[in-house]
Amino acid sequence: MSESGKRILVIGATGQIGSEITLELRRRYGKDNVVASWHKKGLSEQLESGPVEHLDATDCQSIKKILSEYSIDTVYHLAAILSAVGEKNPQLAWNVNMSSLYNVLEASREKGGMKVFWPSSIAVFGRGAPRFNTPQDAVLIPSTIYGVTKASGELLCNYYATRFNLDVRSVRYPGIISSETMPGGGTTDYAVEIFYEAIKNKRYSCFVRKDTVLPMMYMPDCTKAAVQIMEADPSDIHCRMAYNVTAMSFSAEELAAEIKKHIKGFEVDYEPDFRQMIADSWPMSLDDDLAREHWGWKPDFNLTTIVVDMIAKLKRKLRA
Ligand SMILES: NC(=O)c1ccc[n+]([C@@H]2O[C@H](COP(=O)([O-])OP(=O)(O)OC[C@H]3O[C@@H](n4cnc5c(N)ncnc54)[C@H](O)[C@@H]3O)[C@@H](O)[C@H]2O)c1
Repeated sequence: MSESGKRILVIGATGQIGSEITLELRRRYGKDNVVASWHKKGLSEQLESGPVEHLDATDCQSIKKILSEYSIDTVYHLAAILSAVGEKNPQLAWNVNMSSLYNVLEASREKGGMKVFWPSSIAVFGRGAPRFNTPQDAVLIPSTIYGVTKASGELLCNYYATRFNLDVRSVRYPGIISSETMPGGGTTDYAVEIFYEAIKNKRYSCFVRKDTVLPMMYMPDCTKAAVQIMEADPSDIHCRMAYNVTAMSFSAEELAAEIKKHIKGFEVDYEPDFRQMIADSWPMSLDDDLAREHWGWKPDFNLTTIVVDMIAKLKRKLRA
């Protein structure tokens, strides 16, 4: 047991965010205190550095068994079907996203003394919400099944927090940019793919228009937000739906221009597909004042520093 006494289960540990949050949690709380659970997608060597379990989060009994066997007191529930994949199979997205969240909340309520982190998304916003500087309490009428599961999930978390006093905390992440694991089928995947293609082929065909502006965040800030809200004093958490958090907003063309400063001859063309409609229904920027005020949220990275760091990391990874 670590000094902090935490025993953590990460569900969805092999995903874009889970693969990096798991390692950060192991650095912070000790590798033996963080169980990485996987489903279908195999574990990397790095994730094998601590306890691992196979887990289908749609099976509540399996979650309860792991909570009990490892004396878990904290769950980071990151398993989900993302926006683009969800639009191709809405039934699967509803089933995985809703049943896994319900199971985690129910297993945690039953066990008692549990803390849960579950990320929501900017996909909760749609028709009727201002697209610029979208406020915390803007109306939630999502356009995708993914957004519907996130908006419903927020309500469910709020219900468990108020009805059963379960300590569940959440943030609405924007698009996440990272170098470790490829994104899993969301609408902001272009903001990661563009780096790989710039380094490997000096060409990228972008699936949204060049003037598409979305809020974004770099992975170190993404893990920081999760750890920070989970470490915050309970008296500082006044919102049990999900807090808006963001770092910056830029257009696809602005991202390409920043990458071109480092990779001479890099060319981008724009061929919007079905994901354009999803992007057009989401906020272009977010108002995250409440998170800043309540638990001190503040990002470290901007577009310039992300691009420098991503290119350095990917050049090493791809041996370019
Ligand atoms: N990546 C982003 O840009 C972004 C933005 C906003 C919110 N989020 C949210 O953050 C969380 C993590 O996202 P991500 O980008 O890492 O997603 P991802 O698609 O990369 O990973 C999802 C993980 O869920 C696992 N999974 C799928 N079905 C499962 C099941 N039945 N049981 C157990 N595990 C299962 C997959 O194996 C995978 O490891 C999700 O809730 C997502 O909605 C992500």
